[in-house]
Amino acid sequence: MNKSRIPVAQKEVLSLLLDDHKRAKQLFKDFESAKDSATKEEIAHTVCIELQIHTELEEQHFYPFLRQQDPETFGDLLDEAKVEHASAKSLIEQILAMKPDDDLYDATVTVLGEYVSHHVKEEEEELFPQVISKKIELRELLDPMMALKEQMQERLEPAAA
Ligand SMILES: [Fe+2]
Ligand SMILES: [Fe+2]
Repeated sequence: MNKSRIPVAQKEVLSLLLDDHKRAKQLFKDFESAKDSATKEEIAHTVCIELQIHTELEEQHFYPFLRQQDPETFGDLLDEAKVEHASAKSLIEQILAMKPDDDLYDATVTVLGEYVSHHVKEEEEELFPQVISKKIELRELLDPMMALKEQMQERLEPAAA
């Protein structure tokens, strides 16, 4: 077995997810400081779409793979993650159906930001360190995750593609 491949593939897959986390956090900050409703709507729409893509990557590839590799270590963490994703997804759907002048628009985006920040913290401080310490080989996830990301971007962000 070529051991040097393990950290490289891990780093690439985890970096892909970490970059998404960083970007989402930045977008929520931008939303907070945005002044007009058109800008707010644009930022909220972007963060919702990007989170839809990110949660799908994790749910279709990353989470089931980890569960299969080591159900003992990852089972409880992944159950929690799934419930947290479900709450986030329901808020995302609400936001996408709202208009920025709706009474609860800002509050709903803010609460989504708080949920995401809590969830990201758990992934980065509990889940990812376990992936690293258990030396989980993530190589086979890289291509399917990038392909799904691209495919979802084309479908959900046609202007940016
Ligand atoms: Fe994540
Ligand atoms: Fe997640």
